Amino acid sequence: RENERESMFIVNEWAAKYFQDILQNDVDGRAIGMQYFRSRGFRDDIIRKFQLGFALNQRTALFDEAVKKGYQPKYLVDTGLCFKVDKEEAGNKSGQDKYLDRFSGRAIFPWLSVSGKVVAFGGRVLDTRTKGVSQKYVNSPDSIIYHKERELYGLYQAKKAIAKEDCVYMVEGYTDVISMHQCGIENVVANSGTALSIHQIRLLHRFTSNIVLLYDGDAAGVHAALRGTDMLLEEEMNVKVLFLPDGNDPDSFARSHTAADFRKYIEENQKDFIQFKTDLSLNGVTDPVKRSQAINSIVESISKIKNQITRASYITDCAHRLGVNEAIIVNALNNFVRNGM
Ligand code: CTP
Ligand code: MN
Ligand code: MN
Ligand code: MN
Ligand code: MN
Repeated sequence: RENERESMFIVNEWAAKYFQDILQNDVDGRAIGMQYFRSRGFRDDIIRKFQLGFALNQRTALFDEAVKKGYQPKYLVDTGLCFKVDKEEAGNKSGQDKYLDRFSGRAIFPWLSVSGKVVAFGGRVLDTRTKGVSQKYVNSPDSIIYHKERELYGLYQAKKAIAKEDCVYMVEGYTDVISMHQCGIENVVANSGTALSIHQIRLLHRFTSNIVLLYDGDAAGVHAALRGTDMLLEEEMNVKVLFLPDGNDPDSFARSHTAADFRKYIEENQKDFIQFKTDLSLNGVTDPVKRSQAINSIVESISKIKNQITRASYITDCAHRLGVNEAIIVNALNNFVRNGM
């Protein structure tokens, strides 16, 4: 099993180099892939730093090259770089297994583990209007070397800066991480549009206790910020949230601002998580049942905070914001603790 993991790392390492080589040196790679990254404004140094690549359009380009180099199909499948096609489905009468590349025709974003090993890939279609392409991004499936919920995109490139700044910015996507680096803000990671997991939180907590959720200013972004945050409080992280002006994501914001302006914007607009949740769930809500549900959900979040002093200050703050007596909050809180909810 250890051998198997090692073989998968070797194949991924090779594939990452192969995709980079196509992007940098192949005629189509340059004309199509590099052209795409340029159109997004990515600089050469950043393209290299994130080991970005390109997968040719031919459906077996990587597979053929890998086999020629002596890599076994088994590991190409285990890593998710290729997948086996059903013999009948492929109309393959020779009885030979048929394999296809997973990422063909896509811009490649390798995922590195915290120690810098290539554990997976993300691939973006170049043109989201392309007919027949249903997914903007395709990602490597989970495997014995990649558990999506245990990895954070960009952590390898960000960890030094996270420790130095004692703060991490959590964004949604690959391009957000990359553009922020390019703009000069390096303490940033992405969880790729999913809810934060306990593993990811503990991984981050090795470097800092301070996290700012920097999500897109759309409904999905708000929803993402609400998910998984009780877990952050429970893990004794300080959580702030910030939504960029509507229609922006950190990628577009970073391209139109200097690092200093971006940092200033964050400083001035980040909200404490409890404050965010209070504003969000109570603004304009008058229905008593809905109000009490909202208050309960906020109190539940507060109940996750272990530090007594922090918790007490939230209770005061929250009572003030909600316009209710502190005793009501304390009571509700005690109910949560008593019921072990
Ligand atoms: N994502 C994914 N699969 C999808 C859509 C999104 O894995 N089908 C992940 C990707 O990591 C993506 C992130 O969720 O980067 C955020 O999604 P989105 O905001 O839609 O993409 P952007 O990163 O903004 O990509 P782009 O700017 O290229 O459109
Ligand atoms: Mn898993
Ligand atoms: Mn989005
Ligand atoms: Mn974007
Ligand atoms: Mn986005």
